[in-house]
Amino acid sequence: FGLMTYDPAYTNTASCRSAITYIDGDKGILEYRGYPIEQLAEQATFLEVAYLLIFGELPTKDELDEWTHAITTHTFVHENVKSFVEGFRYDAHPMGMLQASVAALSTFYPEAKKIDDEQVRYEQIVRLIAKVPTLAAFAYRHAKGMPYVYPDNDLNYAENFLGMLFKIAELKYDADPRIAKALDVLLILHADHEQNCSTSAVRSVGSSQVDPYSAVAAGVGALYGPLHGGANQSVLEMLQRIESVENVPGFIDGVKNGNERLMGFGHRVYKNFDPRAKIIKKAVDDVFEATGTTNPLLDVAQELERIALEDDYFVKRKLYPNVDFYSGLIYEALGLPVEMFTVLFAIGRTPGWVAQWLEMVDDKEQKIARPRQIYTGARGRDYVPLDQRG
Ligand code: CMC
Repeated sequence: FGLMTYDPAYTNTASCRSAITYIDGDKGILEYRGYPIEQLAEQATFLEVAYLLIFGELPTKDELDEWTHAITTHTFVHENVKSFVEGFRYDAHPMGMLQASVAALSTFYPEAKKIDDEQVRYEQIVRLIAKVPTLAAFAYRHAKGMPYVYPDNDLNYAENFLGMLFKIAELKYDADPRIAKALDVLLILHADHEQNCSTSAVRSVGSSQVDPYSAVAAGVGALYGPLHGGANQSVLEMLQRIESVENVPGFIDGVKNGNERLMGFGHRVYKNFDPRAKIIKKAVDDVFEATGTTNPLLDVAQELERIALEDDYFVKRKLYPNVDFYSGLIYEALGLPVEMFTVLFAIGRTPGWVAQWLEMVDDKEQKIARPRQIYTGARGRDYVPLDQRG
């Protein structure tokens, strides 16, 4: 096989050069375009961070106003998209619906194929960031059997999404600003994470020069999986199964015996605390205070974390809580059903996907993604007619 290297799951292969997101997994550092995630989560807004990821610099006031205006005025989807969403079964998973409806957008904007045209690229980027929450909210309302709520362009990004989810008929829906802020922070934390499974899927599919909707739909599909974005749903289901603090040691023993994984723990790159998990853990308290709720599953999560961080099995393997460990508890406090958790991740990740797609399209070194293989099968066999096979 000459100089070919075997690297299943690409644990040691850089597939691209990128100037978007920096991670130091040993030190637990995450930066978007050089800015620490902690500062962005505390001081920036999601749309500001989206601009930063895509264009490389923090926007000036005028640039941010223009960008926000562009996103806000592209939130509506074609009426036929609504009919498309209506075609799904009542119990369809919203991630499946989101993946299909994002892919369907390519048929509504056929000009998106012209990926060499800078203006066309910009328009599709705006549309994707603007319309993904609308599609996500339609999926939610479909599952609930409730009429769809059209976007309200007077609201900010997070408030508009909450309104599209929860508004009832003509009743006015006022999002609690603390909840909207918590959601905005969560979206920032999920906005990019360099060459993770879904981003690699976007880059890989996009490298065929297909339109960005088709590429991003591939990212949504990858994110759906329980080892990736789907972990936030799996964490909550795991906590519900464990049920109480007394059951935690028995559950941990099961994990150590290889019966199942401790969901929300471990990361391919972080061999230390995931900095996003630290920020989310703090946000959990703010959300519970704003909603005036408590959740006994928070105690279960904290006990799991306490035991795991002291246990040899987890210490030796450098397994720490990741971004998904506490995010589900916040989403639940926001009143979202578990099936929507991964959808929230997808909304947050959309700017990252499009920023990475744009960087790839602009990169003259990038060719179509086409890994090689080490062939292990038979060779040179002669065809045996059906009636002679025994
Ligand atoms: N629980 C128990 N054992 C684990 C876990 C876990 N969550 N994660 C890894 N291990 C063990 C694994 O069994 C292996 O042990 P051994 O060396 O004895 O075979 C060792 O740790 C290394 O695991 P790996 O599967 O080779 O590590 P990876 O880098 O391929 O996987 C991971 C990373 C995130 C897929 C994995 O840690 C995992 O499955 N975690 C649970 C799912 C999860 O929380 N995913 C969210 C990831 S963060 C954000 C996102 O992408 O959504």
